[in-house]
Amino acid sequence: MQLSSSILFTVLASLASAYPVQRTPLKLDFNVTRTVTGDIKPPSPIEEPNVPGILVKHRTTNSSRSALMRIENDYSLYVAEFGLGTPAQTFKIQIDTGSSDFFVPAVNSSSQYGTFDPSKSSTYNQTSKDFEIMYGDRTYAKGKWAYDDLTFGNVELKNIFFSAATNQTTGEGVCGIGFPTNEASNYPGGFMYDNLPVQLVNQGYISKNAYSLYLNSEEASSGSVLFGAIDHAKYQGELQTFDIVDIDDGGDKTSTPYAFYINLDSVSVNNTTYINTAYPALLDSGTTLLYAPTEVYKKVGETYGTYSNDDEGYVTTCGATGPNFDFKFNNLTISVPFKDLLFSLEDNGSMGANDKCMIGLQNAGSSTYILGDVFLRSAYVVYDLTDAKISMAQVKYTAEEDISFI
Ligand SMILES: *[C@@H]1O[C@H](CO)[C@@H](O)[C@H](O)[C@H]1NC(C)=O
Ligand SMILES: *[C@@H]1O[C@H](CO)[C@@H](O)[C@H](O)[C@H]1NC(C)=O
Ligand SMILES: *[C@@H]1O[C@H](CO)[C@@H](O)[C@H](O)[C@H]1NC(C)=O
Ligand SMILES: *[C@@H]1O[C@H](CO)[C@@H](O)[C@H](O)[C@H]1NC(C)=O
Ligand SMILES: *[C@@H]1O[C@H](CO)[C@@H](O)[C@H](O)[C@H]1NC(C)=O
Ligand SMILES: *[C@@H]1O[C@H](CO)[C@@H](O)[C@H](O)[C@H]1NC(C)=O
Ligand SMILES: *[C@@H]1O[C@H](CO)[C@@H](O)[C@H](O)[C@H]1NC(C)=O
Ligand SMILES: *[C@@H]1O[C@H](CO)[C@@H](O)[C@H](O)[C@H]1NC(C)=O
Ligand SMILES: *[C@@H]1O[C@H](CO)[C@@H](O)[C@H](O)[C@H]1NC(C)=O
Repeated sequence: MQLSSSILFTVLASLASAYPVQRTPLKLDFNVTRTVTGDIKPPSPIEEPNVPGILVKHRTTNSSRSALMRIENDYSLYVAEFGLGTPAQTFKIQIDTGSSDFFVPAVNSSSQYGTFDPSKSSTYNQTSKDFEIMYGDRTYAKGKWAYDDLTFGNVELKNIFFSAATNQTTGEGVCGIGFPTNEASNYPGGFMYDNLPVQLVNQGYISKNAYSLYLNSEEASSGSVLFGAIDHAKYQGELQTFDIVDIDDGGDKTSTPYAFYINLDSVSVNNTTYINTAYPALLDSGTTLLYAPTEVYKKVGETYGTYSNDDEGYVTTCGATGPNFDFKFNNLTISVPFKDLLFSLEDNGSMGANDKCMIGLQNAGSSTYILGDVFLRSAYVVYDLTDAKISMAQVKYTAEEDISFI
């Protein structure tokens, strides 16, 4: 079964529902890669740089990238294969719900995931506009905005707005699938454009800007993003629907949200509620770990680990066991297994019973949560960008499918 070896990145074709058309599932494989990184840096609190014209993106946060460097052998990226230009040049690119722009490192950049050479594409059309993005982890990418044709699976998109970045520190390209309001170009005096999910609607592949994310289990090398559809086999119980909270709106409910924040009411472990104050929580596939307000971070750390000055965090043995962590959103509880929260501090990434592990619930240093892959693997999440809603349920890991169109 294909599912066991690669992530299925499934795009379902459907035209406007007024037309009786065939709806063909279009698939793109995308894999989890695990990278061994070299240098170890301690996690540091998230700080947002105040640089005019550069927006901070939560692809990964500054502190999570630091933590990623720590986790060495367990640095997971969700990457998909794309073809760009004419003839198509192929490369792998990270799928990110925490940002909204598409860029790929240009030729002569160093990237193990592949680069793009604009001079070899007959359809490449560069604009004079500057592209510049900085992510929450302080990595950045710069270049010129351009148009070219993009393919994945059986999808062929014309004139996608993107950048072949000539100066980047991210290492891999990023395919941001968030709201256009979160585009790097959308600063005061800047502009918005139709990004990839909007273009899937415009060019007739899906009828609504919505998709479902299934990261699959921690051991799996496969999962899926399903554009324009929901796979009902992949969750338990009922999907519950939540309004996306605009954390920038200062109470103005009419403004447009820009990121996937929903309210998280409480976190409990073994029937002990660690926090009962609702805070916004960002659902971000571009962040590996889980970040919580300091209060939660400390209580969890003190209960299940010991603070280590050397490691700047709470540590325990990798064989430690504990109850599920329960995240309550209104009437929905998502349970994350204790073992999913541990990551190895050993140089070889070993998770042996006596090896040293850090507790992957980290300090957000603010009154918000970032629910990265550690959390998202336990949930099935439907992102509805058109209606600004999130629907979610406890995941069910299965190769079975029961797909319906949105
Ligand atoms: C995913 O991994 C499989 C098995 O290693 C490989 O055949 C396939 O080409 C990979 N796909 C992508 C998109 O990297
Ligand atoms: C994270 O931000 C801090 C504070 O600005 C900075 O000193 C540090 O270098 C950053 N870490 C990384 C990995 O970029
Ligand atoms: C890449 O490097 C080669 C060799 O130095 C050079 O000829 C070419 O112009 C460079 N391409 C770009 C896009 O910078
Ligand atoms: C390049 O893009 C611009 C802006 O959309 C458009 O006006 C122009 O016709 C395009 N040129 C080519 C060769 O496609
Ligand atoms: C890349 O951008 C950085 C940050 O703005 C800048 O310091 C550096 O000089 C640039 N490198 C090149 C080769 O343009
Ligand atoms: C929490 O309490 C409920 C009801 O008292 C019980 O059914 C459940 O097993 C308890 N959970 C844990 C992890 O102890
Ligand atoms: C869970 O709570 C029960 C009752 O308070 C306690 O006896 C048990 O040791 C706790 N289990 C864990 C793993 O903390
Ligand atoms: C959960 O709450 C929502 C909104 O308050 C409600 O519409 C839904 O029916 C509830 N679901 C269950 C299973 O209670
Ligand atoms: C990894 O390193 C630890 C500590 O040095 C060692 O105990 C363990 O046997 C190693 N595991 C593997 C799989 O090499």
